[in-house]
Amino acid sequence: MPESYPELASVLSEQFPAPVCAILQGFAGASASLRDLLAVAPLRDLLGSTGEINVQDEATAKLDDRANEMFREALRLPDVARLISEEEPDPIEVGAGTYTCCFDPLDGSSNIGVAPVGSVLGVYTDAHGAFEAGYSITGRQLVAAAFTVYGLPTMLIVASPDRVDGFAFDPEDRTWRLVSPKIRAPQAQYASINWMYRDRWPARVLRAVDHASTGLRGRYSGSMVEDVLRVLMSGGVFLYPEDETSPDGKLRMLYEICPIGFIMEAAGGAAMDGTRSVLDVPITTPHQRGPLITGDGEAVRRYHQAYIVVD
Ligand code: AHG
Ligand code: MN
Ligand code: MN
Repeated sequence: MPESYPELASVLSEQFPAPVCAILQGFAGASASLRDLLAVAPLRDLLGSTGEINVQDEATAKLDDRANEMFREALRLPDVARLISEEEPDPIEVGAGTYTCCFDPLDGSSNIGVAPVGSVLGVYTDAHGAFEAGYSITGRQLVAAAFTVYGLPTMLIVASPDRVDGFAFDPEDRTWRLVSPKIRAPQAQYASINWMYRDRWPARVLRAVDHASTGLRGRYSGSMVEDVLRVLMSGGVFLYPEDETSPDGKLRMLYEICPIGFIMEAAGGAAMDGTRSVLDVPITTPHQRGPLITGDGEAVRRYHQAYIVVD
């Protein structure tokens, strides 16, 4: 193994306190196990739906359930107060710790069995009890964020407030190794958005999408993290704006939008809801939704400029 690819543990210990390292290691460990399961899913009767409808009003895939169990168990750690999962209606109380871990165990469920999917984690501080006490929290309370993309290679992206690193999974010795240190969001080449919703966009969204994506090439996977990985590695902008069907947007603040916003800002890019940074949006419920426009700061700024024009 080349000495030039440091292991995850040594990179984390330089940047995070021990409890956050343990959380990120837990996420990485569960991601490695989920990767194994995804690789054999068609052979183990793991494709298709459980027949249940989740708290999001969406059909639960068998792998949504399995992934949820894996991350839930991996993140039950001494310094964790509470877990919030896309697949759980209510927060899960863990202990008296400082950190609230919010996760999307399987992002891009419609891609299961046919294209890469991923997982997302946000580690918040001092968030426990906020909703019950009537306080909001924001993405500024994130101390770390991470996501995995189960493609070839399987990639893990980890961010502290000022640094983003990319790790590849080595199946031979089951380690995550640093292959893309200190990622900076490159200039946009690609725009990722579900163009088939064009008829549902309000006039300001239509104008802003056109303004942001002029001159770019289109790529849309159906899994946010796969598109966001492309934005980080190749340069682009990912957009999931509000529309007539989803007037508040589709993506969820705590375990999709804010972790990605935190990662993108740490990589020198931007993440907005159209008018402000997604990290400044008050969050008052576990599954709150919002719009997300993220990637190269210049492309996000073009969206913002067209969006705020009064019709
Ligand atoms: P999830 O599978 O966790 O519910 O998330 C799916 C999200 C996101 O990954 C993706 O970008 C988007 O939904 C796709 O939605 P559309 O099919 O509406 O484009
Ligand atoms: Mn998701
Ligand atoms: Mn999901």
